[in-house]
Amino acid sequence: MKKLLLLLIALSGFLFAITPIVPIPLHVKVNKQKALLGEKLFMDPILSSDKTVSCLSCHNIFTAGGADKRRFSLGVGGQKDNIHSPTVLNAVYNFKQFWNGRAENLAQQVNGPLHNPVEMNMTDSLIEKRLNADKYYKKLFYKVYKTRYITYKEVTDAIVTFEDALTTPNCKFDRYLRGKATLSKQQMRGYKDFKHLGCITCHNGINIGGNMMQKAGIFHTVFEKKKYPDLYSITKNAHFINVYKVPTLRNVALRAPYFHNGSAKTLYNAVMDMGYYQLGTRLSKNQVDDIIAFLKTLTGQRPVILGETP
Ligand code: HEC
Ligand code: HEC
Repeated sequence: MKKLLLLLIALSGFLFAITPIVPIPLHVKVNKQKALLGEKLFMDPILSSDKTVSCLSCHNIFTAGGADKRRFSLGVGGQKDNIHSPTVLNAVYNFKQFWNGRAENLAQQVNGPLHNPVEMNMTDSLIEKRLNADKYYKKLFYKVYKTRYITYKEVTDAIVTFEDALTTPNCKFDRYLRGKATLSKQQMRGYKDFKHLGCITCHNGINIGGNMMQKAGIFHTVFEKKKYPDLYSITKNAHFINVYKVPTLRNVALRAPYFHNGSAKTLYNAVMDMGYYQLGTRLSKNQVDDIIAFLKTLTGQRPVILGETP
């Protein structure tokens, strides 16, 4: 059974032609004024009902690789989220948004946290009311959108434009792919293991993940007491129990804890678990160390937009 599954995973590589890992562009074209306004909004708790929570609270792009160091983030009134916060860095390259892919793109996604009663708990009209009462935003929105009355549409557009700019180019591995850097012996061993063991069947493409849904627990079932919003929760198809979007591995070293349930405290544990649950092997300590050395080459530069001034 185990051999058959491994064979299937290997074969799927040929049948569905695994997309190779490709570097992310060195520069992204976004409207800078909109992105910088979006940055302000991203960090401003004015967008939460009790003015305590901003997007940044749960997606720390400065200290947590765009995710949250907490296993479960805290929203308005200190309420706990029902799934671990994923990273917003390079999220623009994901084929869908949210762990279960329920939003097609960032523009759809952004409505989620703003309206979620546990996260920011706002209505469109309350957002508009607050921002239109704020002289600073009035001026800024006029400058950027030429509008005298701020609407929800411009608010989300600005945030999404900021997210479009949250890419982390030029990591060592991208430079290696472009022929501009050499990997150390250990990083190379890790990369080879990553390919040969089959990690790359799920983590590939421009985001080294983010382009398919897969079951968490292929060779061994992941037992969980709690129910999480998986693909089953929207499709009600039993095949999709515990199926999630494969997360991007870009900047993965910066954002412990890991997985939809935040159950892996360290990258070491996460890689070990992946070997066991997804590939049915118990990786040796050396293998895990090598793979981690490789994964660390996926840490890119800070998004350029964060250093920009209007
Ligand atoms: C209280 C914590 C919290 C706040 C506030 C919050 N988020 Fe999130 N965010 C999460 C969690 C948890 C998820 C995963 C939910 C799921 O997949 O079901 C998520 C998912 C996302 C995703 C999808 C990433 C992916 O790979 O699927 C993006 C993008 C995102 N949030 C952006 C934002 C933006 C923009 C804001 C502010 C408007 C925001 N978030 C506010 C906790 C938060
Ligand atoms: C069959 C598909 C598949 C294979 C093979 C696979 N993964 Fe994963 N990987 C996933 C899925 C799905 C998740 C999300 C699991 C969850 O949230 O419970 C994940 C999550 C991760 C994470 C955590 C990322 C985060 O942000 O939380 C790391 C690290 C990781 N994988 C590394 C690896 C490595 C290294 C290998 C090879 C040893 C590997 N994966 C093999 C599908 C796969």
